[in-house]
Amino acid sequence: MRKADIVVPVKAVGYAELTDAQRDLIDSARSAAKRAYAPYSHFSVGAAVLLDNGEIIEGSNQENAAYPSGLCAERTAAFYAHSRFPDARFSAIAISAIGTDGQPLENPISPCGACRQSLLEYEKLAGAGVSVLLDGKDEIFILPSVSSLLPLAFTEF
Ligand code: THU
Repeated sequence: MRKADIVVPVKAVGYAELTDAQRDLIDSARSAAKRAYAPYSHFSVGAAVLLDNGEIIEGSNQENAAYPSGLCAERTAAFYAHSRFPDARFSAIAISAIGTDGQPLENPISPCGACRQSLLEYEKLAGAGVSVLLDGKDEIFILPSVSSLLPLAFTEF
């Protein structure tokens, strides 16, 4: 038998500790969250993808009366980013959820399983870690890659 532990590397930093580029990305995710269409859950999420061509693509969750037809902010942003700039590669993604007061939620938000799998696709295309910034009121979690959020992932058949 062999036992192994999988370690998820997370840096927790305050907003003021972010680099200018990281702060821009978090600000973009926060402003995207304000444009969420979430009349059913009232849970507003924004995501911002930084591409290696310098573009930042924002997306927000889009809900639907037929609930499963809605889409999370992360996939809205990621799918649009790659359809708009198919030759660019992902460098980073920031995710933010805001409360009804327009402020980030207390705890950093983390993407759902389907979004992790979808983002992993673009990390594989990039051929390098896509850093992930998870926004919270007091702390922002920074992970070096999508794969660190999805260990033992299904990658190909
Ligand atoms: N949602 C996101 O957009 N991203 C996440 O990481 C978690 C959940 C959305 C889906 C749905 O519109 C609402 O938040 C409640 O689950």
